Amino acid sequence: MTTVRAFGPGRVNLIGEHTDYNDGLCLPFAIARGVTVEARSLAGGRVEARAADLGEDDAFAAGDPPRAGADGWRGFVRGTVAELRAAGFEVEGATLRITGDVPRGGGLSSSAAMSTALALAFMGLAGGRGEDVDRRALARLCSRVENDWVGAQTGLLDQLAALFGRVGHALRLDCRDLSIEPVALELGDWTVAVVDSGERHAHASSGYNERRTECARACAELGVQSLRDAGAADDPGRLPAPLDRRVRHVLSENARVDAAVDALRAGDMAALGALLDASHASLRDDYEVSVPAVEAAIARCKAAGAAGARIVGGGFGGSVLALFAPGATPPPDAVVVEPGPAARLLDAG
Ligand code: GLA
Repeated sequence: MTTVRAFGPGRVNLIGEHTDYNDGLCLPFAIARGVTVEARSLAGGRVEARAADLGEDDAFAAGDPPRAGADGWRGFVRGTVAELRAAGFEVEGATLRITGDVPRGGGLSSSAAMSTALALAFMGLAGGRGEDVDRRALARLCSRVENDWVGAQTGLLDQLAALFGRVGHALRLDCRDLSIEPVALELGDWTVAVVDSGERHAHASSGYNERRTECARACAELGVQSLRDAGAADDPGRLPAPLDRRVRHVLSENARVDAAVDALRAGDMAALGALLDASHASLRDDYEVSVPAVEAAIARCKAAGAAGARIVGGGFGGSVLALFAPGATPPPDAVVVEPGPAARLLDAG
């Protein structure tokens, strides 16, 4: 009888939002909060899963995870089993106990935390350590779970952040070639904190998929493969509204990622704060993914003296991220976040 425990972290994206599925740039880091999956091998080829925080169960044949009833967290479990098998990994019967401390639908990617923990748990049961596996391929596999089983046409930002997270570093992701450059996050006495807007989102049903469709339409109109190339198109501004605004966001956000890397390297926190504000304005006005509860959370951070604050993740709810100077007092519900390690197997419990 084998027992393993795997942990998948949530993530914060410092800057570079809605750029990943446009072949663009992002600057996330994995955080200490996440999802833990305890897995025990089970004879008979069935998977029996319990989402302990929800008090819900699921059970199915490992060899043929059913689509019917694969809603919410069950879609992640069934989808991970199906995608691992499709990719040639051995998946036997298992009892799973899933717990987490990253709010679901809170903008910190509870979803990638869950799918990466599940995948590593099944690999651990099969005798792997998750270290020998191609983590970019695993990120794609976890992304397929979300795309094909959960119905959210999300990109690779969250899975790459969870699988490549590094203590003390943010990751500059280039989603065109999947190159990953660690960037030291040396904030001195400054802090990055997240504040939950209280509004939950589900990307499968929010405007997220619509934004993706709009970007695809913009590409078709401009005759480019991806919006990464839109700047080179004749005149991206000639697009009909709202596509012109969507493209403007993506191009300006890519530029802000590199400006943020420069600001971090120069230790210029004020410049980083200004970039966070500019990112939020662009996400609110050009990409239109903010909602009143998010604006209220931003206003609270700014009233508390944040040097910059922006919506984080897919939008339509979730959390905001804010940068505070030494001496500022973040709102009482703010949670300070720091770059933590990547998804991994823990000692067997
Ligand atoms: C969600 C998705 C990511 C990314 C962000 C927006 O977190 O899962 O792929 O698109 O939204 O930057």
